[in-house]
Amino acid sequence: MKKKTVLLGVTGSIAAYKACDAIRALTKKGIEVLCVMTKASREFLTPLTLQALSGNKVYEHMFEIPENHEIRHISLADTADLILICPATANIIAKIAQGICDDLLTCTVLSAQCPILLAPAMNERMYNNKITRDNITRLKKFGFHFVGPTSGRLACGSKGLGHLADLESIIKATTGLLK
Ligand SMILES: Cc1cc2nc3c(=O)[nH]c(=O)nc-3n(C[C@H](O)[C@H](O)[C@H](O)COP(=O)(O)O)c2cc1C
Repeated sequence: MKKKTVLLGVTGSIAAYKACDAIRALTKKGIEVLCVMTKASREFLTPLTLQALSGNKVYEHMFEIPENHEIRHISLADTADLILICPATANIIAKIAQGICDDLLTCTVLSAQCPILLAPAMNERMYNNKITRDNITRLKKFGFHFVGPTSGRLACGSKGLGHLADLESIIKATTGLLK
């Protein structure tokens, strides 16, 4: 059976380090993981870490000269059996909901024909903001899948809804969509 490929989008959330656990769990299941980082995610995590864990090149730049004559965001979208954005910031959710494609991750998402799963993580007030809720409702209507968030201790110190879903739920949702 052909190895499945998950394109893991990592965004600028305090929960970005948890993408490392997701890579480990997915690769353990024999799934190939290709990472695409947003600029903000680099404030939380280095590409070197993601490369070492995934065993693959990490993609970050829209206008990097590719090794061959490919259009990077199209070839990444074609390669992916599923796109998992983990963690997904309020910002990436808003951008995708509006069809904005101003970086490699958003361009790849807009080009993709595979299932797309988002694992939101943010402050409770950001999550409960009607704008974010509206963006999520809109994306669900377009067929995007969501796992979490859950209630838990947030980076700001308070407890609330906005905590990244637990690893087990994220992996279960991912493998469920890959079948
Ligand atoms: C310390 C810190 C933690 C942050 N954590 C989150 C978060 O968990 N969720 C979120 O939506 N935004 C968070 N942000 C804000 C995002 O980093 C910011 O909106 C950024 O523009 C997101 O860009 P991206 O979606 O392209 O990665 C955080 C910012 C800082 C400074």
